[in-house]
Amino acid sequence: MWRDLAPIGRDAQSKGYRRYAWTPADADCRTWFKEQAEARGLTYELDRNGNQWAWLGDPTAGDAVVTGSHLDSVPDGGPFDGPLGVVSSFAALDELRRRGAQFTKPLAITNFGDEEGARFGLACVGSRLAAGQLTVPAARRLRDADGVTLPEAMERAGYDPTAIGPDPERLARIGAFVELHVEQGRALDLSGDPVGIASAIWPHGRWRFDFAGEANHAGTTRLVDRRDPMLPYAETVLAARREAELARAVATFGKIAVEPNGVNAIPSLVRGWLDSRAADQESLDQVVAGVEKAAREHAERHGVDLTVVRESFTPVVEFEHALRDELAAILGAGAERRVPVLGTGAGHDAGILSGSIPTAMLFVRNPTGVSHSPAEFAAEDDCVAGVLALADVLEGLACR
Ligand code: GLV
Ligand code: MN
Ligand code: MN
Repeated sequence: MWRDLAPIGRDAQSKGYRRYAWTPADADCRTWFKEQAEARGLTYELDRNGNQWAWLGDPTAGDAVVTGSHLDSVPDGGPFDGPLGVVSSFAALDELRRRGAQFTKPLAITNFGDEEGARFGLACVGSRLAAGQLTVPAARRLRDADGVTLPEAMERAGYDPTAIGPDPERLARIGAFVELHVEQGRALDLSGDPVGIASAIWPHGRWRFDFAGEANHAGTTRLVDRRDPMLPYAETVLAARREAELARAVATFGKIAVEPNGVNAIPSLVRGWLDSRAADQESLDQVVAGVEKAAREHAERHGVDLTVVRESFTPVVEFEHALRDELAAILGAGAERRVPVLGTGAGHDAGILSGSIPTAMLFVRNPTGVSHSPAEFAAEDDCVAGVLALADVLEGLACR
C-alpha cells in the first residue's frame, strides 16, 4: 500500500507531496482508496461531502467502529501525515482477519476530504461539513488562489456538490471513531514509546492580515513618500513571535501573498496568514489580540490600511475520557508499561468529529518530530507497532 501511494502527487524537485483537494493527485489517492476497499470486499461509499467510506458489515446497523484519516497534504507535505492513518486502517483490518476476529459491530475505514485546507484555506472541510461545523453557504464561498470555488472544484473533479451539508444520520451510525496519526512532535521519541494515545488538541485558528498600501516605483519613490505594506507586515511577523513566547504558545506566518509581486515595485498589498495555537483559549486570545494590536500600530505609522479576518477556528478538544481510557486499558493490558497519553498542537478530523461522536487518537513515534515537510518520518517498526495497536483497539471495540 505504501509503495502504491508513494508516487502520487509527489513533486520531483522538492520531493514533497502536493495532494490538494479535488485535484488530479487527490483523485488518484481516492481511486487508490476505492481499490483497497474493493480488494477486501468492503462496501464502498462516497458521502455527500466527498468523504470516502469502506464498510465491513451493515453501514446502517448503528454503533459502528470507524477508523481512518486523510490522504490530502499541505504544500510539500510529508508522506505520513494522513496516509499513515488510512494505510494502517486497512492493514489493521487485514491483521484482524488474519487473527480470525469475529466482528459484532460494523467497521468502517474512512478518508476524510480536504483535511489540510491547503487549497481553500479552511482545514477539515469534509468532517466540518458532515458535523455541521461549516455552513453550506460558507462552504460555497470558499475559493482557491485562482478564484475557483469549492463547488466548482468538486464539479470539475466529477463530483456533485449540490448535496454538501450536515450529515447527522451518517454520524449517528458511529459508536466510536479512532484516528491513527504520525506524531507531530517528539514526545514519544523522548519517552521511548512507539505508540501513544491523544489527550487533547490545542485550540487553534487561522487569521488573514491584509495590509493595503500604495504601489509605486522602487527606484524613484522617496522613503518618506512611501506607503509600503511590507514594513508593518514584517513588524507583525516579529510581534507574533514575541507574543507567542510570552504566552507559551505558537504563532506562525507561513503563507504570504504580495501584489503586484514585482522586484522593482513597492507592494500595493501584503496579505499574510497567521496560524496560532495555544494550550488554552485565554493564551490563544492573548496572542492574537497582541499580534493584531501591533499590526494596527505599525500599519498606522506607515500610512497603511489593515483588515484582519478570522478564517477558521477550532476550540480546544478534550478527547472523550471513557473512550480514551478504554484504549489505554486495551493497549496497557499485558504490556510492561503504560501507553503514554499526550496532547498535540495539530488539528485533526477526530477533533472536529469529537463534538458529535466519541473520538480517540493513536500517535505513532516520529523520531525527529518534523511534520508538514518532506522530511517527516516514522520507522517501519513503529508503523507496524501502530498497526498492531490499532488492530488491538478495533478488536477491543468491535469484537466484544
Ligand atoms: C493540520 O495538520 C493542522 O494542524 O493544521
Ligand atoms: Mn497535517
Ligand atoms: Mn493529518
